[in-house]
Amino acid sequence: MEPASDHPDFWNLRYDAGTTPWDSGGVPPALARFLQHTPLRGLRVLVPGCGFGYEVAAFAAAGADVVALDFSAPAVARARATVGPALADRIVPGDFFTHALPAAGFDLVYERTFLCALPVARWPEVAARTAALLRPGGRVAGFYFFAPKDDGPPHGLEPGEPDRLFGPAFALEHDAPVPPGESLPLFAGRERWQERRLRPL
Ligand SMILES: C[S@@+](CC[C@H](N)C(=O)[O-])C[C@H]1O[C@@H](n2cnc3c(N)ncnc32)[C@H](O)[C@@H]1O
Repeated sequence: MEPASDHPDFWNLRYDAGTTPWDSGGVPPALARFLQHTPLRGLRVLVPGCGFGYEVAAFAAAGADVVALDFSAPAVARARATVGPALADRIVPGDFFTHALPAAGFDLVYERTFLCALPVARWPEVAARTAALLRPGGRVAGFYFFAPKDDGPPHGLEPGEPDRLFGPAFALEHDAPVPPGESLPLFAGRERWQERRLRPL
């Protein structure tokens, strides 16, 4: 039986087979725009489930203190190759849910095809862990995939579902469709860029 998508073997098989339809091939344009207008120098950024890791170099170039996690060994190897030796130690092998990370230790958590990659039953844990890792006033920002629920992954969100998941502790500050031409075919017309802020205490 195939492992579930919250097990590293699910992803190891796909990286090893070169079956990676989520591979953006570079920094997605909506993130590039965010980086242009968001001062990140010195801010602590976490990239959970970083995959190929293109964004890690972009966050570092913006001056952020970035840490990326992935629990798939081939993903970690690819991300380290992507970012090169100077940033390789920023790519950490580890499980987002259990790896020792500082509570309230991050200013920004970046999301792309991490939530939708996990079984829907684990989504509340993703939101709770994100809240625990962000400092009050910190943000979670990135791409959210909206589609009817089917076999997945990717597992689609319903309209309003991210607000319910993240709950009243977070305020939605930005929400815009990703132009279809900027998305991979798998996600085209079904992605939104959203930013939520953990309300200050
Ligand atoms: C669909 S891929 C997306 C990769 C990357 N975010 C991107 O946009 O290309 C999902 C990634 O999340 C990783 N992943 C899934 N669950 C994880 C967990 N609990 N901790 C760390 N990484 C995880 C997988 O190994 C895989 O590399």
